[in-house]
Amino acid sequence: EVYNPNGKYRVVSTKSMPGTRWINLLIEQDCRVEICTQKKTILSVEDIIALIGDKCDGVIGQLTEDWGETLFAALSRAGGKAFSNMAVGYNNVDVNAANKHGVAVGNTPGVLTETTAELAASLSLAAARRIVESDQFMRAGLYDGWLPHLFVGNLLKGQTVGVIGAGRIGSAYARMMIIYFSQFLFVVIIACFVIAAYGEFLKANGEQPVTWKRAASMDEVLREADLISLHPILDKTTYHLINKESLATMKKEAILINCSRGPVVDEVALVEHLKQNPMFRVGLDVFEDEPYMKPGLADMKNAVVVPHIASASKWTREGMATLAALNVLGNIKGYPVWGDPNR
Ligand code: DGY
Repeated sequence: EVYNPNGKYRVVSTKSMPGTRWINLLIEQDCRVEICTQKKTILSVEDIIALIGDKCDGVIGQLTEDWGETLFAALSRAGGKAFSNMAVGYNNVDVNAANKHGVAVGNTPGVLTETTAELAASLSLAAARRIVESDQFMRAGLYDGWLPHLFVGNLLKGQTVGVIGAGRIGSAYARMMIIYFSQFLFVVIIACFVIAAYGEFLKANGEQPVTWKRAASMDEVLREADLISLHPILDKTTYHLINKESLATMKKEAILINCSRGPVVDEVALVEHLKQNPMFRVGLDVFEDEPYMKPGLADMKNAVVVPHIASASKWTREGMATLAALNVLGNIKGYPVWGDPNR
């Protein structure tokens, strides 16, 4: 699919993206926009090399693609100066390789903060109140009347919430748990990597009922929290941050939410833990080997699983596409961009 075929700068998007704003702004700035129409969901390195071709000024790519040495070399050979992931996470991008080949990298922070935090909050409630399990039970025609024990879950009021990775998204999640439930839910926010002045932010906003505490260690979070939401970036320091030992440190009836990246959790250890501890629950948006789940996870009734949809609101996805286009444009033309992973 090609827009503005005579544009001076050739910008390729490896996927069709929501909205038209991103296309229009590239066209207005003299770009020829080419959108890959391949039907398969995940493009290979070879597919992307073919898309880059002999001349390409910039590429908008996706988190499912492996942007390493080979692709940045190909983009650089084609005269490319700019690449943007349509994602805030950029663990699929080798920024050093990009720099080496003179390609500037962009990502899409900010526009997906609240949307992602909303999904983490939704999964928290869904897991606590066993909503998906109950829904499946109803649809299977198994409901034959109210029972005192039927789908008894956890009450979140008065529980201790742990946020691991309190950057933009983790902090928004914490704020949501406070604001949405402040009259009903008193939470202690234990944050490992807490953003500066977060306590001051809460005070300034008059959210008094909340007791807020910075955890001394990750272990303290694991031991004390009833509900833990994971929001760190994925790198070698956070790979399998939640593993057999950390799961064993958590409360037997705790809830774990992951809307960050799959490999932050050792999924094999998690499946085993879910089997051994039927009262332990998880809400997962991300998986170690997407699009697959580790064997056994799909059978676990104490797991709520959704297909990496944390940023999937119309407004957000259009915003991500627009920001990715602006990143590529800015880096082609040499002006500062908002989505700069080094900021
Ligand atoms: C991201 O942006 O990194 C999310 O995983 C997808 O929105």
